[in-house]
Amino acid sequence: MLVRGAGAIGATAGFALAQALQEAPKEGFWKFVEKAKVEIEATRPTAQNLFFAVNRVFDAAKKSKQPREAGVEEAQNIAQEDADNCQKIGELGSELIKDGANIETHCNAGWLAFVDYGSALSPIYIASQQGKKVFVYVDETRPRGQGARLTAWELRNENIEHTIIPDNAGAYLMSQGKIDMMIVGADRIAANGDVANKIGTLEKAICAKEYGVPFYVAAPTSTFDLNCKSDKDIPIEERDAAEVLYQTGPSEEGKLEKILVCSPGSSAINPAFDVTPAKYITGIITEKGIIKPSMDIITRLFIG
Ligand code: MRU
Repeated sequence: MLVRGAGAIGATAGFALAQALQEAPKEGFWKFVEKAKVEIEATRPTAQNLFFAVNRVFDAAKKSKQPREAGVEEAQNIAQEDADNCQKIGELGSELIKDGANIETHCNAGWLAFVDYGSALSPIYIASQQGKKVFVYVDETRPRGQGARLTAWELRNENIEHTIIPDNAGAYLMSQGKIDMMIVGADRIAANGDVANKIGTLEKAICAKEYGVPFYVAAPTSTFDLNCKSDKDIPIEERDAAEVLYQTGPSEEGKLEKILVCSPGSSAINPAFDVTPAKYITGIITEKGIIKPSMDIITRLFIG
């Protein structure tokens, strides 16, 4: 968890394999690199950008007479493309945002989660730079609090008005007409448009449909996995129950403390992601355009 967020995980994984290429001994060079690839891939099962980046660096190195140099070059390309694609997502997505919009978001899919700009937050940043007034309701995103800790911090840095809400407040706010649209990120998108994202996203999407709130997913095409036909093929990472049972934060004296926030002795389960079926999603904002989540359209997106 030192590195998190789809794009950041992808870029880091690409450089990790490039690093392995530098360290591989002459004797048994590819065996060493293949072992490193397996180790890197085992770190995060759900985030598709990791597999996208590792495969690209591996293939570029394999095809080259100078695999070490080719690996570094490809890792750098991936990182640059991530920033460029997120900027494009912001430009395209900003057109969906009306002046005065109230937007809810879940987890952190901003510049801390990518090389730059972010996915879900990029349209908000660009809309704000265009002079539109936006207000963001930030889901705290238990158990790790990526919304409360990271998204809120980013928005403050961008001088964008926002407030943190408990994860279970979304339905109420939607029922009161307080939310105009929702934008979330994605960790993996199946060929039929089903979207894996931070746990809790599915509940928000169901509520959004019920209350007629447009529900957008923002993600670069590097997050799509056409080998996953639908939600059933997406592996869901299960994390340590301690993330649910304990919370970590600074004491009044500023010392980092970990405290038990549950009944002592109880167990907890901690699935890190859920999958939102395509039928709940209004549109997916990619660097290539805003698309309807359907198998046909997604396949065409990759064909060109
Ligand atoms: O648990 P994390 O911090 O690795 O969460 C992953 C994510 O960042 C999200 O699910 C996010 O909304 C989409 S990826 C930027």
